[in-house]
Amino acid sequence: MTRPADGELVAAARAARERAYAPYSGFRVGAALRTEQGEVVTAGNVENASYGLAICAERAAVAAAVALGHRGFEAIAVAGPGPDPVTPCGACRQVLREFPRGPDLQVLCAGEAGERLLVTTLGALLPDSFGPDNLGPPAADPPGS
Ligand code: THU
Repeated sequence: MTRPADGELVAAARAARERAYAPYSGFRVGAALRTEQGEVVTAGNVENASYGLAICAERAAVAAAVALGHRGFEAIAVAGPGPDPVTPCGACRQVLREFPRGPDLQVLCAGEAGERLLVTTLGALLPDSFGPDNLGPPAADPPGS
């Protein structure tokens, strides 16, 4: 399988905007994750009448990918409306930090069309981050738990 190039990953994120459910904000975001096997998993944001329960496109894409058995992510592309690149919110940065590539995950941020692209890393967006390694070895479950 040919590994999708960064431009294709951005195109996949833009296409995923069409499947976003954003009736309250009207701010449709798409995200596309590229796995280490070169597969692409996409999602849009999913809002709710209880506004605070909105799920960002990035976290929806992570949940979809993990449900399909993927955890090794190389890159994520994010695309929002308008010409300016949309960057992942703080909560999504922390969720993306969880997976093996950690701060080295490539992050491609785009608007809905055009050439403007912010190419960065999770480490640049979330410096000095907290991750699974900070927890040390897992504690054994106490008997009877
Ligand atoms: N949103 C995302 O899906 N990803 C981002 O990177 C920024 C914000 C969503 C959350 C909410 O549904 C809408 O955009 C407006 O904040």
